Amino acid sequence: MSSVNDIRSTFLDYFARNGHEAVASSPLVPRNDPTLMFTNAGMVQFKNVFTGLEKRPYVRATTSQKCVRAGGKHNDLDNVGYTARHLTFFEMLGNFSFGDYFKEQAIELAWNLVTKEFGLGSEKLLVTVYHTDDEAAEHWKKIAGLSDDRIIRIATADNFWSMGDTGPCGPCSEIFIDRGEHIWGGPPGTPEEDGDRFLEFWNLVFMQYEQQADGSRTDLPRPSIDTGMGLERMASILQGVDSVFETDLFRHLIDAAASAVGKSPTPETVASYRVIADHLRSMVFLIAEGVLPSNEGRGYVLRRIMRRAMRHATLLGTTQPAIFKLVPALVREMGQAYPELPRGEAMIAETVKLEEERFLKTLSRGLQILDEESVGLSTGDTLAGDTAFRLYDTYGFPLDLTQDALRARGIGVDQAGFDAAMARQKAEARKSWSGSGDAATGAVWFSVAERAGPTEFLGYETEESDGAVVALIRDGAEVEALDAGDEGFVVLNQTPFYAESGGQVGDTGAMTGEGAELEVLDTTKQAGGVFAHRVRVVSGTVAQGAALTLKVDHARRTAIRANHSATHLLHEALREVLGTHVAQKGSLVSPDRLRFDFSHTKPISASELAEIERLANAIVLQNAPVETRLMAVDDARAAGAMALFGEKYGDEVRVVSMGTAIEGEKTGNVYSMELCGGTHVRRTGEIGLVTVVQESSVASGVRRVEALTADGARAWLNEQGEQLRAVAAALKVTPRDAVSRVEALVEERRQLEKQLADARQKLAMGGGSGGEGAESETVNGVAFMGRVVEGLQPKDLRGLVDQGKKQIGSGVVVIIGTTEDGKAGISVGVSDDLTGKLSAVDLVRVGSSALGGQGGGGRPDMAQAGGPDGSKAAEAISAIKAALAG
Ligand code: ALA
Repeated sequence: MSSVNDIRSTFLDYFARNGHEAVASSPLVPRNDPTLMFTNAGMVQFKNVFTGLEKRPYVRATTSQKCVRAGGKHNDLDNVGYTARHLTFFEMLGNFSFGDYFKEQAIELAWNLVTKEFGLGSEKLLVTVYHTDDEAAEHWKKIAGLSDDRIIRIATADNFWSMGDTGPCGPCSEIFIDRGEHIWGGPPGTPEEDGDRFLEFWNLVFMQYEQQADGSRTDLPRPSIDTGMGLERMASILQGVDSVFETDLFRHLIDAAASAVGKSPTPETVASYRVIADHLRSMVFLIAEGVLPSNEGRGYVLRRIMRRAMRHATLLGTTQPAIFKLVPALVREMGQAYPELPRGEAMIAETVKLEEERFLKTLSRGLQILDEESVGLSTGDTLAGDTAFRLYDTYGFPLDLTQDALRARGIGVDQAGFDAAMARQKAEARKSWSGSGDAATGAVWFSVAERAGPTEFLGYETEESDGAVVALIRDGAEVEALDAGDEGFVVLNQTPFYAESGGQVGDTGAMTGEGAELEVLDTTKQAGGVFAHRVRVVSGTVAQGAALTLKVDHARRTAIRANHSATHLLHEALREVLGTHVAQKGSLVSPDRLRFDFSHTKPISASELAEIERLANAIVLQNAPVETRLMAVDDARAAGAMALFGEKYGDEVRVVSMGTAIEGEKTGNVYSMELCGGTHVRRTGEIGLVTVVQESSVASGVRRVEALTADGARAWLNEQGEQLRAVAAALKVTPRDAVSRVEALVEERRQLEKQLADARQKLAMGGGSGGEGAESETVNGVAFMGRVVEGLQPKDLRGLVDQGKKQIGSGVVVIIGTTEDGKAGISVGVSDDLTGKLSAVDLVRVGSSALGGQGGGGRPDMAQAGGPDGSKAAEAISAIKAALAG
């Protein structure tokens, strides 16, 4: 028996042998298409290769592409579980020719693979061609020897394939197998064609045109080939089973589901097992790519798929989360072909469980309401739109879940009524908002948000993607276009640009497309989750609806990632070293540095800083993966994730963890775990190095550290080294000896200064030490000695005054010391015999005021003051003399 894995490799090997490059599956969230919800065919990644926009080093390729068809043009959600062949997630095997071979060889390659490699009997096979495609019909006849009645001409869109509303397209030819009379159904083109008897398993598209948005079609540069074989369908054929759900892979998933719910499938319940198995694959693959359940866009499609599966689990009798238990079974089946599954397994299971817990809270009450409200309805009736809306709004039932629940009873849902109820609710929200009196610029964003909905952020997974312009704003108002030279804002349906938040600055970069080139100067988040890209149009014109290629400035974003992850590591290291009172008070994560403010009352010592750096860098060296998961706020807090106190978080939060503690209390546990919506490195090694360059105080009880990482840290450290080398060179020593040399020089200088001061004092006081030679004059009958000493500190004034007093015996001594900064200190001494008629305090005030100061104090025999202007020292002496003279 050929397993799913065998068939995949047989297909790829066959085409590789025939000159095709085996190319890896592209992501489910397309990067190269602005509006496509999910990759829905193998050709999506080659779209621009067909149109000639993109060149690849090969002209033939083969892939096994993961596809989701739920939402958008190709949507199989409603059929899953009710037919033998529809799936929301499937693998499409394909071969592609980019202007190389065309119809004839494509048919030949296909026929040989099917009949020779896979060994299908030609008598069971039939094909369709587009009704006007005589050429294809001829080739089938010649190559396969099929009779005319086995080459069916189809006039409808079934045989004209297009990817979406725009893009490459062309007539196609499909290969069917007749699985036998025991299954109901008729050949293609008959009224019974929807049955499962005639199974289409391979579609060959003869790519010839490009569908334009205005409805016209242009020729591709060269005719090309795009084919798609459903791997699961081929497995059902080769394994001789009647439905894709009976193939090896699905049997294993259904077995796992049976053991999780504790019951085996019965004919009545088998559809629920099938829905669960199919939806499990969609949810796991989407979550593995970073799509998380939400209420918007792709996240909402995912949520719908998940909740639908959960309702079916409930139908099977579960009351506790069960679907998350199936994740390991799927990883076992498909993990080898898709390594993103084992890599993300724990995170995926947690995300599924969280959604199950959330939904189970309201599910049973919702189902009860659904029962009550539909009890009187029977086949052909419809459920009121208001009820469906209430189930949606209050109980989290996506519309299609309600439809699915009623489908078995033949009851529909009044969709118009549902839409009207939704519109009423939006109108209410608008009314309450317009009452808040926000400014006009805010009003623009609100109306954009209301019309276009929140922007889908792709930037956790990619820095490049396409996006469709949904609004353009200039001077606070919406405009139809922005022209060369204009500055304004661009809003897109999806974007890889991070909008400033949580301390992380907004991304910059470029947008190009449709002849226009834009520079993105900043990105911010506006009302209702709208991402506002502030741009300058460098050339061309960008208009509403344009498809643009978006490119985040990679080097800048790389630096931002490293700084953001380093901020988390420093936060934890600070708590470890300083204590758990350390709480974040603010942060700035920019490309060139990070700043982190936190509660702490004392400066951080040099040894503490060194320890903080050491701890943070130990995790950098672990090169540990950085893991992001979605958690309920309470669970995240319970798990020890750090959150900002007083911050409002939604019910569910992103939690970023990194590293394993290898010392201290947390040994063996996750090192850093924080609630965070920012972008991070994939592994801590990308941080390179964390270096704290400054530690300071920002407010009372709040300290700040600033740090650098990676190249910035290295450049800074290099510069420090350079400076040290320059200092050493100036000192004429090696860098190693620089410090002791500087210390010696400082000590030497201190000694010299002291000697100089002593010498000056001696000089000023008359040179000798014993008092002889002291010069004094007589003013108004009193001996007076006045001296100005340069470089004398105020503390030394008093000693000199005492010395002077000793020298002159009876009289007045004035010493003024001027300091290097140009200020002066003054001290006046009056010998005891004169204090009856002269006061040192009065005299010092006279001197001080001449020095531009005021005041001064002391006793009648000794007083001291200061003054700002040392250059007036001589005037101060004269002023005191004049005062003595009376
Ligand atoms: N692109 C073609 C399809 O999806 C092969 O059917």
